Amino acid sequence: MSTTTQTRRRTIRDVAKGEVPGVWLTAYTAPMAQRLDAHVDVMLVGDSLGMVVYGLPSTVGVTVDMMIAHGAAVMRGSRRALVVVDMPFGSYQESPAQAFRNAARIMAETGCAAVKLEGGAEMAETVRFLTQRGVPVCGHVGLMPQAVNATGGFRTQGRDATQAAKVTADAHAIADAGAFAIVIEGTVEPVARAITQELAVPTIGIGASVACDGQVLVVDDLIGAFGDFTPRFVRRYAEVGATVEDAAARYADDVRNRRFPTDAQCFGTRG
Ligand code: KIV
Repeated sequence: MSTTTQTRRRTIRDVAKGEVPGVWLTAYTAPMAQRLDAHVDVMLVGDSLGMVVYGLPSTVGVTVDMMIAHGAAVMRGSRRALVVVDMPFGSYQESPAQAFRNAARIMAETGCAAVKLEGGAEMAETVRFLTQRGVPVCGHVGLMPQAVNATGGFRTQGRDATQAAKVTADAHAIADAGAFAIVIEGTVEPVARAITQELAVPTIGIGASVACDGQVLVVDDLIGAFGDFTPRFVRRYAEVGATVEDAAARYADDVRNRRFPTDAQCFGTRG
């Protein structure tokens, strides 16, 4: 999709499977949403904000209220991108009714057009329940960060035949249940490629190869603003973290040596 001709906000129809790869990025704040809006098809208010914004050790501690606050900010900061908000851990796994209650709240209080939830075949009934009741759902299979306590870490999926069959079955189950797109995270290329060829809905890869229909990254990874470790699947397009550190160091030096402020930054000086 062209980034220049779009004037209205994209819908889930605009991000259907197509010739041009879908460009997705996470966003958590209004200023960042403003900067990304002309360049991406979808802004994902990911529960990765728990780690990236709040310094939590995983996404498990993220709440619905946190997602609503950041989802609303990203909606205020954007006009064109489709905004998808993650359902956090514990807000949808209990029952389809619980999922609907929280999804409806997220949509009503943020104005976003869709939610994303993690899970495979075991979540298919919930995805069907939501999509049949007016909640567009993006699935998320392969490596599922909310399950970190059950899986014991962030491990690439699909390396052996059993795992490959599971990720494939999960993707099919969620697509058959009505998801409009499926994020495939941390999954080996042949498995992601086969799933992409088989599904009628777009696959959005993160660490799942160029074979996917689109790509998503955590924006803070992309701009070098989060941590010192760069996962293999990330390409850094900027070094914002280093730029911030440099700016803070120069400001501190100027303040300590009375080089800031000067008359140019003051009011009522005689100069
Ligand atoms: O929470 C998130 O940012 C995500 C992406 C990594 C896909 O789910």
